[in-house]
Amino acid sequence: MEIPSGVHDILTDTRTVITGDRVQIPFELDRPTYEQVNKVLKEIGGRWDGRTAVRAHVFPFPVEEFMRACLATREFPSRFEQGWYPTPPRVVDDMLAHAGVREGMSVLEPSAGTGSIVGPAAECGGVVDCVEIDARRVHVLREQGTARRVLEADFLDLDPLDCPHGYGRVLMNPPFSAAVQHVTHALGFLDDNGTLVAVLPESVTWHSDRATVEFRELIALAEGTFAPLPDESFAPSGTSMRTVILVVDAEEGGPLPTHGWHQRQPRQLDLFTLA
Ligand SMILES: C[S@@+](CC[C@H](N)C(=O)[O-])C[C@H]1O[C@@H](n2cnc3c(N)ncnc32)[C@H](O)[C@@H]1O
Repeated sequence: MEIPSGVHDILTDTRTVITGDRVQIPFELDRPTYEQVNKVLKEIGGRWDGRTAVRAHVFPFPVEEFMRACLATREFPSRFEQGWYPTPPRVVDDMLAHAGVREGMSVLEPSAGTGSIVGPAAECGGVVDCVEIDARRVHVLREQGTARRVLEADFLDLDPLDCPHGYGRVLMNPPFSAAVQHVTHALGFLDDNGTLVAVLPESVTWHSDRATVEFRELIALAEGTFAPLPDESFAPSGTSMRTVILVVDAEEGGPLPTHGWHQRQPRQLDLFTLA
């Protein structure tokens, strides 16, 4: 969405302070301009905190690089687009406790947003590759420099067979509207001895559509678990949606369609060769 020029003027004003997780405008705005600015910042995910010590829009993610990218393009992606809800730090800690990322371990984050999971996974010693569909968030990820590789792509279009190796860990908080599809696809990038940890909407534990039922059956076969997160875990990101953490371990010859499983499938060409 386009940043209205009045809002752009305010956000690029030299007096405006954009740093860490907040945007502070320390000068008076007339009411209509304030409302326009407030609308844009809220749609990006900020919340006005009027306490005297703060008096700023506070975001659930580091906003500086992100705002720079938005202001350069004069556009912003609303947080409602592409299901963008950054994972709050407490949930990331929980994911990492399950994942046990060790020094040098390969990690994939296939819908990386602005790196809420990528950064902490790299701090644990993980060598992180990530994918993100939104160009501005890709810019932020590249500026952060914590991932080995940042690919701007639709993850669902990537073919596991084009990936030369499986990943020891897949850590993800995919767009909730297509969570099952994203996790199922991500299994194709998981090493035969890897572990996938995903934050998902709680509805994956009870939805009765065919894809979700089959997904639960697959996870049950692999002895994966869905652990509920406390209510309001995503409140810092502006949603009260209930969520769960999925943890599932792969094993060679197991039921999951891992990277190794994909590699072992006979190619179409080979079938013709047999005839
Ligand atoms: C729920 S947010 C989570 C972001 C990040 N994983 C985190 O934990 O903060 C989902 C992210 O997936 C991205 N996304 C949506 N569809 C995608 C796709 N098909 N391929 C790659 N990324 C996608 C969105 O742009 C958004 O940044």
